[in-house]
Amino acid sequence: MKTIVITGGAGFIGSHVVRLFVHKYPNYRIICLDKLTYAGNLSNLKDLEGLPNYMFVKMDICDFEAFHALMQEHKVDGIIHLAAESHVDRSIKDPFTFARTNVMGTLSLLQAAKLYWESLPEKYEGKRFYHISTDEVYGALALDTSSEKAPYGRDFFTETTPYNPHSPYSASKASSDHFVRAFHDTYGMPTIVTNCSNNYGPYQFPEKLIPLFINNIRHRKPLPVYGKGENVRDWLYVEDHARAIDVIFHKGAVAETYNIGGFNEWKNIDIIKVVIRTVDRLLGRPDGADLDLITYVTDRAGHDLRYAIDSSKLKEELGWEPSLQFEEGIEKTVRWYLDNEEWMNNITSGDYQKYYDEMYREIN
Ligand code: NAD
Ligand code: TYD
Repeated sequence: MKTIVITGGAGFIGSHVVRLFVHKYPNYRIICLDKLTYAGNLSNLKDLEGLPNYMFVKMDICDFEAFHALMQEHKVDGIIHLAAESHVDRSIKDPFTFARTNVMGTLSLLQAAKLYWESLPEKYEGKRFYHISTDEVYGALALDTSSEKAPYGRDFFTETTPYNPHSPYSASKASSDHFVRAFHDTYGMPTIVTNCSNNYGPYQFPEKLIPLFINNIRHRKPLPVYGKGENVRDWLYVEDHARAIDVIFHKGAVAETYNIGGFNEWKNIDIIKVVIRTVDRLLGRPDGADLDLITYVTDRAGHDLRYAIDSSKLKEELGWEPSLQFEEGIEKTVRWYLDNEEWMNNITSGDYQKYYDEMYREIN
């Protein structure tokens, strides 16, 4: 049996990865490790409780001793590392927390894994440290609508694009990516790094654009659009990201980097209008009834203009492609948030943070 730790498993993307692995690999033991910060929500994983190959551990990735002990106790073979502070706006207000978790936390996991795996007779044989990163480390692309190849520009981020992060969030992720690669180059640790575009889908914390706006539209609250709404993001349905992580964890080459994206660029203002129309339709409101909620506000400091990922390496080498068209993905997403009002209300009321106490305090 393989034992795999998935860090940040109670967050948005992590919960989808944990669910996929628990169901698809009944012979693996999946340890979901999470500190349960404001972004961690155990009700994202409610359906997995009690399954024999699933286990939750509350831990801070910065706790080197505790993580090393966990690796020894459970004989951990693989780490899929998603735990991070993930919101750009928070990083602008509080960069220290981002350096602590994203940089020091990643280094702490690497160092503990090195100590444990190097103590084994087989060393790094059959082991894997897979680090999940973002396209934001590459910086920002220009906006150029004269291209026929893509609606918003000729250039894309590839695996060889030099790092040029602008926000404290992307700077901290870039730093962690460098540490992961350094552990391969220096100690021979079998590492992989992937850089993915913006994800959307169920269980995303409502500080991020799409869930925040769906909830505001439902309650007819203003929709704060930064700047002119001209910034471009490349959107991927979260379950497609989880599938890519599965393929890369099992088939990706050690020391490689893979970009993950869906060739799906949208200007913020356009995607916001799609979300408004979809919410209005599903709630039975007249088409466009809530367009007047759009409220232009002061731009985000250092707001990256455009992200666009070229994921052809992943398609050519490992055969991964997104499975969902955007229209289908956004419909599923809006429907999920409208159908799961209690999930959203538990977050806005703060009740979701009591869940750990009720479910786990006694057994951990
Ligand atoms: P999220 O904020 O929803 O979840 C992060 C999780 O990490 C939470 O459960 C939180 O409790 C946990 N965590 C935070 N600090 C921790 C610590 N010190 N110790 C242990 N756990 C801790 O984030 P997400 O959107 O699911 O992103 C997951 C990963 O994917 C991050 O590494 C992020 O950089 C990367 N990523 C995200 C996107 C995106 O669009 N959301 C795109 C590309 C890459
Ligand atoms: P976000 O979901 O925070 O992801 P990221 O900053 O990592 O791309 O934001 C997506 C885009 O939407 C980004 O260009 C900023 C913009 N945005 C708004 O215009 N208003 C908002 O309230 C938020 C949260 C984001």
